[in-house]
Amino acid sequence: MPMGRRTFLGLLAAAPALAAPGRADAAQRPPMSGSGCALGTCLEMHHLEIEPRVGAVVESGRFTRLTPEYSLQWSSFEPTEGRYRFAPVDRLVAYARHAGATVQGHALLWEQGTPGWGTPDWVKARLAEAPDWGLVRRRFETVLGRYGTAIPLWTVVNEPIETSDRADGLRANAFLRAFGPGYIPAAFETAQELAPGARLMLNEYALEYENPVDRARRRAALKLVEGLKSRGLRIDAFGVQGHLELAKGKLDRRGLGGFLRDLADLGVEVHVTELDVLEHDRTLSLEARDARVADTTARFLDIVLDEPAVTSVTTWGITDRLSWLRGDFAAISQEVGAEMHHAMNRGLPFDARVAPKPMARALAGALDTRLAAL
Ligand code: G3I
Repeated sequence: MPMGRRTFLGLLAAAPALAAPGRADAAQRPPMSGSGCALGTCLEMHHLEIEPRVGAVVESGRFTRLTPEYSLQWSSFEPTEGRYRFAPVDRLVAYARHAGATVQGHALLWEQGTPGWGTPDWVKARLAEAPDWGLVRRRFETVLGRYGTAIPLWTVVNEPIETSDRADGLRANAFLRAFGPGYIPAAFETAQELAPGARLMLNEYALEYENPVDRARRRAALKLVEGLKSRGLRIDAFGVQGHLELAKGKLDRRGLGGFLRDLADLGVEVHVTELDVLEHDRTLSLEARDARVADTTARFLDIVLDEPAVTSVTTWGITDRLSWLRGDFAAISQEVGAEMHHAMNRGLPFDARVAPKPMARALAGALDTRLAAL
């Protein structure tokens, strides 16, 4: 029985905000200025067939940003040269209109070496033969030509940082090997030319914790944004993915807060683009596990929402059942039995049966949502 609009709103509106430790309860904080902070999620249209209750949650009216989880990635969108899979993205854009949401384009360029993820093997092979920017330009022309006005915000380059690869902190991916570091400004320049009305974003992960790697990644990311700005390029936004990991220890309130402030001082808006939580001890009771996930969510959001430049929070999914963290993709379409229900990662707002968890309440509380007024 799909969850009704009132049920979901009633749930979140009634939910006591989990007070983030060390700060006044979200309710006592001044309400978010202006439009507050938009809430979004990633989605693929076939998810709605597998689990219709996801549609009820998305259509509750609270999720005003939708990101295609993978169907816009080059590897899914053009698996072989010249053979495009427009349908999943066309359907999501149409669905977003119906659900009163806007789509965030993810991602024009992403190559992380993970075989098949982001950039298709045929492109990597061609770039290894010859550094043909025309190949990249055609990708931008096809995607932005079709969606450049329907989709107002684009991840132009996803995950370009890898501080262990090079002194400048850039990932030695197929684009860098073919074109050098200049591929990043060239990508922003091309996107700016082909979608002049869209907002252009750089998106990164592992920026959130108190450790040398995250600290180095924040430094490299800031240097990259400063470099793009100094060339007069339009980088309107930065995406902090927000893939939280309980095993990574303490969130870096000073480091992350300062990083967001530095981005804001550069005139860059910030979006949390892929919020979820990877557990590290699934032997605990579901109640204890859910409390840990909600607590880290509340702590993270308390840090990021302290920065007015943060204008949206997107969770990387609605239900644990469809999360990339759940493991084997094949089982997604199976019914969720009790043992699977306990075994899978519980890092999204709703559990495998789309029942809200404390993380949903932490999210609602932290966003100072106006659900009660809806
Ligand atoms: O649905 C098909 C299934 O029918 C098929 O049997 C199976 C094996 O081929 O593939 C399934 O689709 C896969 C899909 O995940 C399932 O959810 C795609 O091939 C696979 O490419 C896709 O992976 C996505 C990955 O990005 C690569 O695009 C993940 O869903 C998605 O969560 C992940 O998201 C990334 C962000 O884009 C960037 N930040 C990190 C984040 C997590 O890795």
